[in-house]
Amino acid sequence: MFELSKEGIEKIKTELTRYEVKESAIIPALYIAQKENNGWVSDAVIHSLSKVMGLAESRITEVFKFYTMFNQKPVGKYHVQVCTNISCALNGGREMGRHICKELGVDYGQVTEDGKFTVDHVECLGSCGTAPMMQINEDYHENLTPESAMTVLRGLK
Ligand code: FES
Repeated sequence: MFELSKEGIEKIKTELTRYEVKESAIIPALYIAQKENNGWVSDAVIHSLSKVMGLAESRITEVFKFYTMFNQKPVGKYHVQVCTNISCALNGGREMGRHICKELGVDYGQVTEDGKFTVDHVECLGSCGTAPMMQINEDYHENLTPESAMTVLRGLK
């Protein structure tokens, strides 16, 4: 069961006023709802958005399933997205991702036992000049090494 908060509903209604068609507000609405649902979008989230936005669930689902920044299953408190696209790969991004997974004892897409981390590898995050890099929730961490990436992760409470 998921219900948007009053504040969340207000934010989504504000988004709806910003565009000519309701569909344009789906992405910002998904961001708001995902945040309220501990980082992922469930069927109940889609249902709730459909009611608030006055859109068919299928319209929201087709956007949700297209974009990788929306999570289709539960993630840890910290969603670690390691870029393994070309610039990052050439600068050790793939090795860094494997190192992080090994240190945390998970494969890509899994949640650590304590619920703290999910590690994923993703396509270019638009920070190629500071490769290799990773995104943790909404923050970018750049010019990393496997060791400095783990230092960042160990510093998270
Ligand atoms: S290739 Fe990693 S940020 Fe662009």
